[in-house]
Amino acid sequence: MKIPSHIAIIMDGNGRWAVERGLPRKQGHIAGVNAFKKIISKAAELGVRALTVYAFSTENWNRPRTEVDFILNLFQKTLLKQADELFKNNVKVKVIGRRNGLSRALTNTIEKIEEMTAGNKGIQLNIAFNYGGRAEIVDMVKKIVNDFAVNNETNISLTEQDINRYLYNPGLADVELLIRTGGERRLSNFLLWQSAYTELCFFDKYWPDFTAEDLVSAIKIFQQRERRFGGLNKVGEDYVD
Ligand code: FPP
Repeated sequence: MKIPSHIAIIMDGNGRWAVERGLPRKQGHIAGVNAFKKIISKAAELGVRALTVYAFSTENWNRPRTEVDFILNLFQKTLLKQADELFKNNVKVKVIGRRNGLSRALTNTIEKIEEMTAGNKGIQLNIAFNYGGRAEIVDMVKKIVNDFAVNNETNISLTEQDINRYLYNPGLADVELLIRTGGERRLSNFLLWQSAYTELCFFDKYWPDFTAEDLVSAIKIFQQRERRFGGLNKVGEDYVD
């Protein structure tokens, strides 16, 4: 059975998980990091080639400053604490999103872990941080326009493969399976270009409760789907999206 080569996860519901337990929201984010650690190792064990998780969106700045600061700190601390473990487990880490707005200390930590793990050949872990799908498209267009201007190029010819080279993580395969926890059924500006034909899988449970078994069950759901990419189905009966 086919294991999806690239899985994306919207880790939603940390705050509600905490509030329902009478805990401060930040406890939910801490529990969220613990869930994340289990999922990355399970994904690697299953042979998933790339895992992209949504840790902080360009819209998350609108939260109260104390929560934003807590997430920024937690992210940096987690990267520092997990760096050796990720390196040892052959994980290649990349942080995708805008670097402006992040502190120098956090940017240094990000660059360090990316450099340290750059030669790893195991699972590729993309952490979307200060990430927005539309922001990524805007940044992609800017880079393209700039490249054409630099080369004095007026004859603009572009393919979908060319576009891929201008995204935050050039060469990354399309998302095959996208999982969202926390009960909402939307994309929330995540990986808009890369998710054109992704299979969507929603869980009502909150992210801190998401387990390795849930990941396996999402993959089983994926394996039962018939992926047609706009073509005919197996018996050639129908035109489908
Ligand atoms: C969604 O729950 C979660 C976030 C916005 C933050 C997730 C961040 C982390 C787990 C820390 C950094 C992680 C890594 C990968 C090292 P929510 O707060 O939107 O929950 P709610 O919908 O219940 O309010």
